[in-house]
Amino acid sequence: MSTSVQPTDINEDKMNAFLGKVVGDFGASLSSSLAYLGQKLGLYKAIADAGSVTPAELAQQTNTNERYVKEWLINQAAGGYVDYDAATGKYSLAPEQTVALTDENSPFFVGGGFYVIKAMTQAVERIESHFRDGGGMLWGEHHPDLFVGTERFFRPGYVAHLINTWIPSLTGVEEKLKAGGKVADVGCGHGASTIIMAQAYPNSEFWGFDNHAASIEHSRAKAANAGVEDRVHFETATAQEFPDNQYDLVAFFDCLHDMGDPAGACKRAAEVLAPGGSVLIVEPMAGNTVEENFNIIGRTFSGASTLCCTSNSLALDGPALGAVATEESIRKIVLGAGFKEFRRATETPFNRVFEARK
Ligand SMILES: C[S@@+](CC[C@H](N)C(=O)[O-])C[C@H]1O[C@@H](n2cnc3c(N)ncnc32)[C@H](O)[C@@H]1O
Repeated sequence: MSTSVQPTDINEDKMNAFLGKVVGDFGASLSSSLAYLGQKLGLYKAIADAGSVTPAELAQQTNTNERYVKEWLINQAAGGYVDYDAATGKYSLAPEQTVALTDENSPFFVGGGFYVIKAMTQAVERIESHFRDGGGMLWGEHHPDLFVGTERFFRPGYVAHLINTWIPSLTGVEEKLKAGGKVADVGCGHGASTIIMAQAYPNSEFWGFDNHAASIEHSRAKAANAGVEDRVHFETATAQEFPDNQYDLVAFFDCLHDMGDPAGACKRAAEVLAPGGSVLIVEPMAGNTVEENFNIIGRTFSGASTLCCTSNSLALDGPALGAVATEESIRKIVLGAGFKEFRRATETPFNRVFEARK
């Protein structure tokens, strides 16, 4: 205890409430790792397929050890991720739990988040050293679960909103893409957004660029699987130097704030944009003041930002905009790169969607 705080300063109810919150966070942190295992080992899918299971049945169906599974199920039921029937000793998933934990095509799917958290927390020791030396850790230096998880985490939101809301919110872009336009998806990662757009606009041509070569290889395989490889070109390139094809749309999905040189990326976007074209910048939802981030979304994004986004930019001596960058700080970068218009075109509870035009 700090020497300036006396026992009489402590309000017992407030102390109990705070400790209760901390213990809840202890459980949540551990359960997040266990939810990762549930995803990885197919435990949730097996429960959903079976309808209801005993620990022995679940272990048998997933080829896992019953003793671990028994303990895992208690944790999951205590956290409200699975239901338990004391009369039968069986565990099951409610429809909402089934969709959120097992249906990768649903906009409610959250499974990817556990991969992201697992990979980011694996970097804690390295980030501790950078708290001391001010350095950073590059995106590509993280555990590969980060790349898999990011795609699995963001894809449901892109499926839900990108074609229905985000593209139509831009100036004349939907019409151009329907007729046949050119799109650059910069910092495309595993290419989820690129492929979703390619499937929606069969007359258009798409380029996905990322400086992480392994992600580009993965994206190429995904495009081939989706049957769109003739119109989708994935290339390893930086956001500051990607090829000029005079695009009708240049998009940055959840990546501008990560970059070492976001101003250089915006400048390049301005150079390669066809006359009348638009830049789409999707950024995590965040407040315009520090205190507007004091909620569950701000807590999550600022946490991810500390362990990953801020660190990637600092590794490159960048401005470290961070995942909770204010709209004003993004506007400054965009307008400084030569754009005349910048506006929030639309938003979701998790995303801010900006449009920039020359
Ligand atoms: C958080 S991920 C987002 C990936 C993808 N856009 C999505 O929404 O799933 C950020 C991506 O930006 C890429 N990136 C960061 N800096 C970059 C740069 N300077 N040039 C190209 N890509 C960059 C990273 O390699 C990573 O794939």
